[in-house]
Amino acid sequence: MTRLPPSLASRADDVDRITGHKRMRRNRKADWSRRMVQENWLGVEDLIWTLFIVPGTNVREPVEAMPGVFRLSVDQAVEAARHAAELGIPALAPFPNIAQDKRDETGSHILDDDNLIHAFTRAIKKAVPDIGIITDVALDPFTSHGHDGIYRDGEIVNDETVALIARAAVMQAEAGADIIAPSDMMDGRVGAIRQALDSAGHQSVGIMSYATKFASGFYGPYREAIGTADLLKGDKRSYYIDPANAVEAVRDAELDVAEGADMLMVKPGLPYLDICRALKDSFGLPTFAYQVSGEYAMIKAAAANGWIDGERVMMESLLAFKRAGCDGILSYFALEAAARIRAGHGAPALKPPF
Ligand code: PBG
Repeated sequence: MTRLPPSLASRADDVDRITGHKRMRRNRKADWSRRMVQENWLGVEDLIWTLFIVPGTNVREPVEAMPGVFRLSVDQAVEAARHAAELGIPALAPFPNIAQDKRDETGSHILDDDNLIHAFTRAIKKAVPDIGIITDVALDPFTSHGHDGIYRDGEIVNDETVALIARAAVMQAEAGADIIAPSDMMDGRVGAIRQALDSAGHQSVGIMSYATKFASGFYGPYREAIGTADLLKGDKRSYYIDPANAVEAVRDAELDVAEGADMLMVKPGLPYLDICRALKDSFGLPTFAYQVSGEYAMIKAAAANGWIDGERVMMESLLAFKRAGCDGILSYFALEAAARIRAGHGAPALKPPF
């Protein structure tokens, strides 16, 4: 790079000579020109709303570490889903807080027809048929130890867990789920789920693999929200990916692609944008990021202290996923961000049901 001698610094001609007439600021000079050269956009169709559900009716419980997020009973979730659909949000991803007395060592309640995920899915499909439903088949909301698999003799057993979640996936599809999203990171799960869905006649139900799920500290508030924080024994490092490993993450995703994943997901989101880019460039599949509970909590907490402009940082963080190659984002901000996007387009405000 050519250094600008201090004696010349104030002279535009010399700046032009030294920069070779290239000035990055020409395109940035006005709102219209900035809009004209904008490379990436965030739209309401990019936002998948992650929400927490609880048993009962007329329940709205705040999640302490996630200001603005509530655990909703199914009837309340239906109202919220109507609102989400009106905003243009394409899909919902529910996470249940299962009654403690229904949890056991193997997570067997995941196979009960009347469990909360099935009840939610049926109710939404009936009331708001045009919104997609993406269900997780991991066992953690259903187990008494908070792990994503069957826990035996200090170990999470892989193959038995896979057999169980493949059955659970078929039941979720039967209840009306459009996409099955396994978040457990057991080996071979995508292939087993694909086979089970196909042999039960659910060829059109897709799989969004939580392909690269890292053993992260960012999941803390989620565990409070679904009631596993006090249950979890040990950690999940024997099945989630080490945050230090990117090459391994791509290899893991490669297996899911080979086993039949229709879409890939990276989780957590913002600290792993390099992985988003790597998966998009390696496989070209629809690629999503999960902006997880801790990411949401950090933004909300800093905003509540007046340390950042919360809305601005929310929008910037969501746009960053698009720049990194993602096709969409699973986020607790989905409703707030969608409302903000609509307002930006001058669309009439929609009043949330709560
Ligand atoms: C587990 C699961 C986790 C999340 C969703 N499903 C992680 C975990 O508890 O280990 C985290 C989501 C979030 O933090 O927002 N199957």
